[in-house]
Amino acid sequence: MADIIETTRDRERALERAIAVLCAGRPIALPTETVYGLAADATRGDAIASIYEVKGRPRFNPLISHVCDMEMAERHGAFDPVSLRLAEAFWPGPLTLVVARAPGSAVHALATAGLDTLGLRMPAGFAREVIAAFGQPLAAPSANTSGRISPTTAAHVADDLGAAIDLILDAGPAGIGLESTIVKVEAGRLRLLRPGGLEAGEIEAVAGQPLLRPDAAGAAVEAPGMLASHYAPGAAVRLDATDVRPGEALIRFGGTALPGEDKAAIVLDLSPSGNLREAAARLFSYMKQADATGARTIAFSPMPTEGLGEAIRDRLERAAAPR
Ligand code: TXA
Ligand code: MG
Repeated sequence: MADIIETTRDRERALERAIAVLCAGRPIALPTETVYGLAADATRGDAIASIYEVKGRPRFNPLISHVCDMEMAERHGAFDPVSLRLAEAFWPGPLTLVVARAPGSAVHALATAGLDTLGLRMPAGFAREVIAAFGQPLAAPSANTSGRISPTTAAHVADDLGAAIDLILDAGPAGIGLESTIVKVEAGRLRLLRPGGLEAGEIEAVAGQPLLRPDAAGAAVEAPGMLASHYAPGAAVRLDATDVRPGEALIRFGGTALPGEDKAAIVLDLSPSGNLREAAARLFSYMKQADATGARTIAFSPMPTEGLGEAIRDRLERAAAPR
């Protein structure tokens, strides 16, 4: 079983163990503000391979390389002016920028799936300290078995991958709870590859231009790895429910009761006060809780789709997609 080290209580030991495992070419579970990542040395093929092995990923998708500062970012990525402005405005934070690979970048081709572009993100919090101490970018997908819900606590990681990895760093529940927003500049135009923990509107305000949304056809090409069925609980998922059928688990929003909820396996409210930030932070954790009841279906009540609601809706549609 993996060692779990609390980063606030045992900072020095957490850093020391993390560096030792990473230097051995093995992955660690790393807390970030979005979700927990399964992180390994982005410059080593064997280390990246072990990420895929632990996750049981069916194919090699490009991974995000996590950096600690702009110097490291610019060593590996070539920033156009718009991407640079976004990095300056939102890093460290829940934004991934897909940029051209810098000529001298040592990021391994297995981490980029052979693309000549690179997904880069500077995470906040303890992850950034680990990267700074390690001195190389860390490739990190979410720390869950492929196709399952992303972990927002160390306990989620331990339940799922505890037997397969050496170390889990525990910094408490992820503050944002949704994966990063991914954007890419193409010919001066900004494309949204994945909605996420940073609202599209905030990006548009800084970039001074609208984000082009992925069309159904382009999406698969633009963000390989964005499989339609993803973020999936064991139970089936029913969206926009206006009632609850017997035995279903209910996840609702805004404190509004639904007819039939007295017969639900469990009733969870993502945010009784209707706050999307709170809802995002709880989403994955509540899906796991609802799933754990053994209900065959999780019903979701309708939720707003503006702001962070866009990313929440994206994850719900993936959870509901046929598998
Ligand atoms: O919040 C997050 O982004 C978390 C934490 C751990 O940082 N990571 C995460 O990684 O969600 P993952 O592997 O689940 O998602 C990475 C996404 C994939 O959809 C992949 O297709 C896209 O990033 N991506 C990475 N590099 C890319 C590139 N060069 N071009 C297009 N898409 C890329
Ligand atoms: Mg993932």
